[in-house]
Amino acid sequence: MAESMKGLKRTHRCGELSLSNVGESVTAMGWVQKQRNKGGIIFVDLRDRSGLLQIIFEESDIGEGFAKAEKLRSEFVIAVVGRVEKRSGAVNENLATGAIEIRATQLRILSEAETPPFPIEADSKTKEELRLKYRYLDLRRPDLQRNLILRSNITSKVREFLTKEGFLEIETPILQKSTPEGARDYLVPSRVHPGSFYALPQSPQLFKQLLMCAGYDRYFQIAKCFRDEDLRADRQPEFTQIDMELSFVDVEDVIDVNERLLQYVCREAVGLEVPLPIPRITWQEAMDRYGSDKPDTRFEMELTDVSETVAGCGFAVFASALESGGSVRGINAKGQAEMPRKKIDSLVEFAKGYGARGLAYLAVLPDGSYKSSFAKFMTEEELDRLVDAMKGQPGDLLLFAADKKKIVYSVLGALRLELAGQMGLLDDNVFHFLWVTDFPLLEWDEEENRYTAMHHPFTMPADEDLAFLTEDPGRVRAKAYDIVLNGTELGGGSVRIFQSDVQEKMFEVLGFTKEEAYQRFGFLLNAFRYGVPPHAGLAYGLDRLVMLLVKAESIREVIAFPKVKDASCLMTNAPDIVDADQLEELGITLKKC
Ligand code: AMO
Ligand code: AMP
Repeated sequence: MAESMKGLKRTHRCGELSLSNVGESVTAMGWVQKQRNKGGIIFVDLRDRSGLLQIIFEESDIGEGFAKAEKLRSEFVIAVVGRVEKRSGAVNENLATGAIEIRATQLRILSEAETPPFPIEADSKTKEELRLKYRYLDLRRPDLQRNLILRSNITSKVREFLTKEGFLEIETPILQKSTPEGARDYLVPSRVHPGSFYALPQSPQLFKQLLMCAGYDRYFQIAKCFRDEDLRADRQPEFTQIDMELSFVDVEDVIDVNERLLQYVCREAVGLEVPLPIPRITWQEAMDRYGSDKPDTRFEMELTDVSETVAGCGFAVFASALESGGSVRGINAKGQAEMPRKKIDSLVEFAKGYGARGLAYLAVLPDGSYKSSFAKFMTEEELDRLVDAMKGQPGDLLLFAADKKKIVYSVLGALRLELAGQMGLLDDNVFHFLWVTDFPLLEWDEEENRYTAMHHPFTMPADEDLAFLTEDPGRVRAKAYDIVLNGTELGGGSVRIFQSDVQEKMFEVLGFTKEEAYQRFGFLLNAFRYGVPPHAGLAYGLDRLVMLLVKAESIREVIAFPKVKDASCLMTNAPDIVDADQLEELGITLKKC
């Protein structure tokens, strides 16, 4: 039976007590982690979000309350009044409160509990599906509590820093018109306007630009965003951005304030020192050296372009790739020459998963001889030249992809990461931040047979490339930048187009007619006609930032109530069917499937 807290007031959280409180009378409340009955004495570990505290119940101190203490089981919620004492038994070095205990003089059972479906403890071995179904229990576990506490610390440090820098926190609408960030929209039907839909924001992009037009020259928001896209370990259908926009600035100003923001937040929230300036690399260099626009620079294993070295060689795979305008590049897996054939075969399969038609290899054995899938097609000199170009040493395994440049980048970029994982090169105590700059403005979409914006359609072309926007859009670079941490895209942003004519031209290149552009984005184009400051901004994925800083494997571990791969919530069962009346009211008829 539940008792009330009447007359009691919690004085401390469990983990807040220490030797300095010895002798004080305190009132603690929380969940029973464990009860151990040793005959005339009962020990209880009491838990709340701050940690564990040992309570001792003895009949001589608590009288009739002792019978209640005998009934305690895991997850009962109790209130205990008692005196802080130096621990009588051995000190528990693993516990912040390990040197003390509370000798209870009063106990109230505030709520009883059924046996939970899994133990509430750190490093749970329980399957994630079960944990997510009972997320409210999962969230009691110390590792998730630590993650969410840290997340809260991070957002408060972000607010602190940006506010000090003159940013205003302004909310933008959730029910809005579609923003084009490239993913599918979540739509919300309107009751008042049957047949019309709001879109949930993929980001506050257009509204933050309008805020700049309105003179709020430094804006930020911890913004919920929604994107209907395939989920991965670092993607959720709803996620949170640290979103910002600044007026009267260019690339350097955005980078400057963000470097200081990252340094401040990492130092204050997790004690991580980020050396400034953060290194920068252009998109082209990132692709050439790492095969990725979000390179993990914790390790080397860079790509080498050997197209010239193998030009004219007898290996048809290389020759034909080059003839059709492709490229041959390789990576050097140091010390992996003796990788068993089976493991190499699985790397070939891995490469095929990224579009490769194969993966050629050459092992430089410890005695200097070669073992290779293509040695028979090349002369000794050609092989030597190739090994030289790859800086191959005895013991190295050289892996090559020959294909269209885009495929070569994607295959070797992925392979580099896979090998680094296998070789134990990914140290999660090391944090390498990196700016990737000068992205291409546009990307050719083979399926749709048109250009799409690489960042979004409001991104400013590089000054020196502006002239090519109409004749040769593919070569135009953008004033766009991403911030990358250990191979994860943490955030991205750009300087925005602020001239209606350039914006109109951009829409034209993207295949919008003027009417379509005005129909969708007329409010922005019109706003630009009334005096718009040059502006730029950036948004971080907050979930990703927290995930990396707490070294979690997935963003689900840093989101209180995340969704699973098929975008459903295992706890509430969302999305779910709704009443026929609700649909009727919205003027919606469902197709039979
Ligand atoms: P972008 O689309 O690059 O830019 O998004 C910014 C950052 O948001 C995070 N992110 C996600 N995190 C979790 N789940 C997702 N599904 C997801 N999608 C994106 C990433 C990404 O770097 N409006 C622009 C920003 C700007 O130009 O100012 C934008 O949204 O960490
Ligand atoms: P094959 O002559 O098809 O047996 O190929 C010889 C070697 O080249 C094998 O190791 C293949 O995996 C590899 N290979 C085939 N296509 C490619 C490619 N496009 N790029 C790199 N290696 C390839």
